[in-house]
Parts: sequence; structure tokens; C-alpha cells
Amino acid sequence: MQTNPRIQQQLQKWVEENRGHVILGTTAQYIPELGKADPSKLGICMLDEEGNYYCAGDTDIEFTLQSISKALTFIALSCHYGLDFVLERVDVEPTGEAFNSIIPFEIHRPNKPFNPFINAGAITISALLPGQNSQKKYEYLLHFLEELVGHPLDMDREVYDSEWKASHRNRALAYYLKEAKFLEIEVEEALDIYIRQCSIKVSTKDLALIGLIIAYDGYNPITKVKHFSDEIAQVAKVLMVTCGMYNSSGNFAAHVGIPAKSGVSGGIMAAVPPKLHSQTYEFRAGAGIGVYGPAIDVQGNSAAGTMMLRQISKEWDLSIF
Ligand code: DON
Repeated sequence: MQTNPRIQQQLQKWVEENRGHVILGTTAQYIPELGKADPSKLGICMLDEEGNYYCAGDTDIEFTLQSISKALTFIALSCHYGLDFVLERVDVEPTGEAFNSIIPFEIHRPNKPFNPFINAGAITISALLPGQNSQKKYEYLLHFLEELVGHPLDMDREVYDSEWKASHRNRALAYYLKEAKFLEIEVEEALDIYIRQCSIKVSTKDLALIGLIIAYDGYNPITKVKHFSDEIAQVAKVLMVTCGMYNSSGNFAAHVGIPAKSGVSGGIMAAVPPKLHSQTYEFRAGAGIGVYGPAIDVQGNSAAGTMMLRQISKEWDLSIF
């Protein structure tokens, strides 16, 4: 089927209406290379189950995955070792603390990190990726992602170097993980694989496609390939709802209601499952969404991107709740 011009026009209109919200955020200054992004940018791509892309705004820019990679490592690792193996090593509980906080460890002394989307949990599971060293682990993840998006991917060297030099907090977290015996490899190697995965470059189209596959429980309805199991997709979506937008996850669930994962580069990947009883026709059979808006709020989510998703979800009745 062809793209629907009305949907395309609506999206364009909503991007322009939400552009003003970029002033509610700033680019991620703590990773200097990300701080250089243009904060006025805002773009979105939506993909339906027939393969129609609807893209509006600034969608010709590539950006790094950052924390969106945490959802993808979780899925890749669960595919390789099984969900039980991964859930023995990382929990699925939100923390209510910042994504790079050390407080939950100090206060609760848990027997595993709280969830794979906070930095501590993500560093723990990235270190478990198959491969003898961080290069091999990175290649494993990259290959898994290339299978999903259907084209080669690469890392942004400048962003990697910039984060590596600024990673004092993550280094401290990794030492903490090592001391608590959650980390089976050396600290520097764990940081290397973690920062590499955060530095993988994608487009809003790539995020829309991966979001669609997650929405369809690991199945790509366009190529008819099943990439991962229903069970893995289910837990990934639970994590996206409860922890995907960090300390805004409750608000995001209430006002947007779509499983999503954000990153400090300003990307958001969202998975809209099919909704047969939807009050509108648009994306009733589900969708994948990729957003880019590098001005992020204090919680680390694209400020204008979040507002735009709120409007889209309301207008097209996309909430899963
Ligand atoms: O570890 C960090 O701080 C970054 N590489 C990723 C953080 C991030 O994207 C949090 N998300 N909103």
C-alpha cells in the first residue's frame, strides 16, 4: 500500500508545533561531543507494518544510540543466553534515581543491579556479551543490530573518545560493580564495550524499524523474519514502560503510554503495538517510531520529542493503557 498523504501532513504539522519546546532542554554537555549538537533540531519517523515510512522534520541526521543501546543489548544477550540467564544477573525494578546514580547500591546493597537500563545494569550486561574481548563483544552486538536494520552500522569515533575521556562516573560505577562481583571482566574492558555500544550511529528510520520489530514481538512484518522470541520482546517492553524514560517513566506512561527508550543524544525509540479497538484509524496495526531532538531535559529525555509524542499518542489513540 502507498503512504497516506494526510498522515504525512499531520506529522509535519506536529513537528512544527512542537519545535518551540526545544527551549525546555539543552544538549548533553557532560559528553562534550554531544554538547555540540544543534539544539533546535527535531525530527520523527514512523513506520507501519506494511513498510511505509512517514518522516517529518530533521530526519536526515545520524546520531548515537546512547542509552537506547541498553534495550538492544538486553535483547541481544537474552537471544544468545536465554532470558533466565540475563534475569539472574540483572533485575527488572525501576530505581527512582538518576540513570547514573550510585545511591541504590549504597542504600539497598542488592544482589544484582536493579535493571538493565540504569548505567550500572547496562555495564553489567554489556560485559556479558559473547566474545573474548570488548572488540568481539562489540562486533557481536553490531552484527545483531545490522540484522535488525538490514544495513551496515558503525560507531562515531569522536563521540566514543569524548565519552571515554569524560567517563569518571561510569568508571566509578564499574569499580563498584567489580567490587560487588557483578562484573566478570576488567573495569576498563567493560567501559570500552559499554561506551562503544552507546556510540553506534543510527537514524530515526533505523529506530522506527527496530521499534516496529519490538512492537511485533521480535517479528519484522515487512521482511517476515522473526528475530527474537515473544518472551524477550515482552520483558523488553515492560522495561521500556517502567524504566525506559528514567524518572519520567511514570509521566510518559500516563501521557504517552507507548513503550519507549531514550538516549542523551536526543533519540527516542518507541514501539506501538497493534490496537484493534483504537478510536482512530491511524497506526491501528501498530508502528515503530524514531525521534531525534538533542535538547534533553533534566531526566535525560528529548524535551521536544517527548512533548511531540504526547500529542501524537493522544491524537491517534496510541496508548497501550
Ligand atoms: O553513560 C552515559 O552517561 C551515556 N553514554 C548514556 C546515558 C543515556 O543516554 C541516558 N539516557 N537518557
